[in-house]
Amino acid sequence: MNRFNVTTLGQFITERQNEIPGAKGEFSRLLRDIGIAAKTISREVNRAGLAEILGEAGSENIQGEDQKKLDVIGNNLFIDCLTRGGETCAIASEENDDFIILNSPVSAQAKYVVAIDPLDGSSNIDVNVSIGTIFSIYERVSPVGTAPIKEDFFQPGNKMLAAGYVIYGTSTMLVYSTGNGVNGFTLDPGIGEFCLSHPNMKIPALGKTYSYNEGNILSAPEGVKAYINWCQQVDKPTNRPYSARYIGSMVADFHRNLLKGGIFIYPATTKSPNGKLRLLYECNPMAFIVEQAGGIASTGTQRVLDIVPNDLHQRVPVYMGSKQMVEQLLDLLK
Ligand code: AHG
Ligand code: MN
Ligand code: MN
Repeated sequence: MNRFNVTTLGQFITERQNEIPGAKGEFSRLLRDIGIAAKTISREVNRAGLAEILGEAGSENIQGEDQKKLDVIGNNLFIDCLTRGGETCAIASEENDDFIILNSPVSAQAKYVVAIDPLDGSSNIDVNVSIGTIFSIYERVSPVGTAPIKEDFFQPGNKMLAAGYVIYGTSTMLVYSTGNGVNGFTLDPGIGEFCLSHPNMKIPALGKTYSYNEGNILSAPEGVKAYINWCQQVDKPTNRPYSARYIGSMVADFHRNLLKGGIFIYPATTKSPNGKLRLLYECNPMAFIVEQAGGIASTGTQRVLDIVPNDLHQRVPVYMGSKQMVEQLLDLLK
C-alpha cells in the first residue's frame, strides 16, 4: 500500500453505495455514524486508565452481568451518535433490557434498526487486553413513521444488510461487510480516519488454532470433547497439535482466526445450557462476516443466520471459523 494514497472509510462507503439494493445516502450515512461512534469509543478505551473510567459501573444488565463503566459509556456513545445521525429508528443493545426507540425529530422517519454489543470482552477492560464493539443493521419491517416494534429485531440474520466489528487492539480496526465481501480499516490516529488496510478479507479454509474456554471442557458436548482431543494429537502431516488461543474477547479471538485461520467454539455449558453468546448482537453479526469471508457459522444443528430470533437477548451455541475445521467439528457433533 502506498502510504500516501489511502482510501478512507468514508470514501469507501460512498464508492460502494450501490451495493445495497434500494439503499441510498441514508445507509451510507448510517455506516458513517457507526464509524464516528467507533472512533469515539476508541478514544475513550485508549485513555481509560487516565480518565477514571475503568472498573464497575455498580449496575447489572438484564442478564445479571455486572456492567463496567466502559460498557455503559460505550452504549451511551453509540445511542447518542445514532440518535444524532438520524438514520436509525431503534437500537437493541446488550446493555438495555428492551430495545430503545430513538428520540430525535428525524428518527421516526428512519428505516433502519441496529443491534449492538457496545463493548465486547468486558472482563478484559481493566487489564488492558483487546476488546471490541459488534454491530448489525437491518431494515425495519414495521412501516416507516410508526413506532418500531420487536419484530423489527426478530428477523433472521440472513436478512441483515450489514454487520461489522471494531477491535481495540494494538491498533483500532473496523471490519465490516454489506454482503459483498469483507473489508478491514485501520484507524490512523494521525488523521483520525479509518483507512482501508485489509481489502477483501478471506478466512483460510484450514487453520491450526482453536479458540475455546477449556475450563468448560467437562460440560462440553461429546463432539466438542472429541474435536479438542483430535486437535491435541501429534500428527505431522496435518500440522497437529493445533494451538489453543483464547483471550475471552470474542472479537479478538474471531479477528485472529479470520486473518490466520482457526475455529471459535462456544457450546452449551452446565451454567449456560444454550451457550453464553447472544444471537442478535454477538453471533449473528460475526456469522455474517465469517460467511462473507468464506467460512461457516453453525449452532451445531443449524446455520446461525437462519435462526428466527424470539428474544432480544437469546443465547445460542456457536461454532464458527475456517470451513474445513467447522465441518469436521459438525461431523463429530452428529
Ligand atoms: P461481553 O463482554 O459483551 O459480555 O461478552 C463476553 C463474551 C465474549 O466476548 C467472550 O468470548 C466470552 O464472553 C468469554 O466468556 P468465558 O469467560 O465464559 O469464556
Ligand atoms: Mn460480547
Ligand atoms: Mn458487551
